[in-house]
Amino acid sequence: MNTNPKDEFIELLRSTGRDGVDDLIAYLDEGRNHFFNAPASVNHHLNHDGGLLEHSLNVCHAALKLREMVIAMRPDLEPRLKRDSVIIASLLHDICKADIYRPTRRKRKDSMGLWVEVDSYDVDYSNFPMGHGEKSAMMALWGGLDIDQEELLAIRWHMTAWDLPMQSVEAMKSLNTARDQHPLCSLVQLADGIAANLLEFGTDEIE
Ligand SMILES: [Fe+2]
Ligand SMILES: [Fe+2]
Repeated sequence: MNTNPKDEFIELLRSTGRDGVDDLIAYLDEGRNHFFNAPASVNHHLNHDGGLLEHSLNVCHAALKLREMVIAMRPDLEPRLKRDSVIIASLLHDICKADIYRPTRRKRKDSMGLWVEVDSYDVDYSNFPMGHGEKSAMMALWGGLDIDQEELLAIRWHMTAWDLPMQSVEAMKSLNTARDQHPLCSLVQLADGIAANLLEFGTDEIE
């Protein structure tokens, strides 16, 4: 088993045999994108360099195990939960975060109540402020990956109702329709929650 997270991410993507994987990896590494070094958040789970890569792998591991469990209980869903699609949608669901974090120093109170200066991040949405899931989906396309419609939908809607614009009936209906059409949408959403809330429980480095 490969222990280097970046190598594991690349090997998993390459294992899909999909066209454009190497182009996408180069894209995630270039310009303002720092996917492989970015944190997963500022104040919550995996808020350290490389946290976004760890989170993406956690979601992929959880999604692959969920896939096995669901197929064992519902064998008829196997053709609709293709392993390659699960890997692509789970690994790429949060690539929108690759260009939004800037290292900074910030004052915080330590466990004794004293102010100390710690490493942190500023969040800057100025580079392509398209949103969250929709930005990840577009980046996967721009990166050159040959990606399926159901994979794009699973990425777009991985936040489910947490990402619905207020009072947008069209967005709500699109989300529900995508979930009704593609079990992959629910699988990636569940795996994201398992990773962020359970596998990464207690990984916020705030005293
Ligand atoms: Fe997300
Ligand atoms: Fe996520």
